[in-house]
Amino acid sequence: MAQLFIINHPLVQHKLGIMRQKETSTQDFRRLLKEIALLMGYEVTKDLPVENYEIETPICKTTAQRIGEKKMTIVPILRAGLGLVDGLMELIPGAKVGHIGLYRDEKTHKPVPYYCKLPKDIDQRTVLVTDPMLATGGSACDAIDLLKQRGCKHIRLMCLVAAPEGVRKVQETHPDVKIYVAALDQCLNENAYIVPGLGDAGDRIFGTK
Ligand code: PRP
Ligand code: URA
Repeated sequence: MAQLFIINHPLVQHKLGIMRQKETSTQDFRRLLKEIALLMGYEVTKDLPVENYEIETPICKTTAQRIGEKKMTIVPILRAGLGLVDGLMELIPGAKVGHIGLYRDEKTHKPVPYYCKLPKDIDQRTVLVTDPMLATGGSACDAIDLLKQRGCKHIRLMCLVAAPEGVRKVQETHPDVKIYVAALDQCLNENAYIVPGLGDAGDRIFGTK
């Protein structure tokens, strides 16, 4: 069973509370999402393998540590996953970024693929898939399927708000993928929106409604 980590840090919860409010502006929403990405990124990366290497300080030679072989690639699910990339890139400036474009069909709620561009050596990398919303889980599962078809073996999923239905679907379909969320909400409504959620994340990040 895939592990679920709920990042209950007070700073994350404080910022998420403001993001949920319907009167929060696009500008504030985007800024808060970036700040949460930074805070969650610290937790999401805390067990990355490190390797020792020799350095010389102004005083003497010593051993330091660096992130090991499997370099990190961030893969946002377009559009809303982009909102988490800037914060993560501040933590991991050397990360490569792949993109997977999926949108949810309004009637069926099933993901429709429209774009995919990944680094050539993606199969050698640890991949962090980002998407603020894990609702039915269809988009996340399809994105992870696609990455596994390209040979990826080390995949993590980072979301802001999740519904139990979406978590269950990812856990059942991809038991090897660790899931990190800031909140596990109550349920989905009849339009497959998360309740209480925060509305349409893409529209709120990009001001399209
Ligand atoms: C939203 C969200 C996820 C997906 C979650 O994207 O950003 O990708 O829905 O729903 P699911 O778990 O039921 O698949 P949306 O389809 O609205 O596209 P957008 O990011 O382009 O607005
Ligand atoms: N996509 C969103 O942006 N919000 C939801 O609540 C569900 C899917």
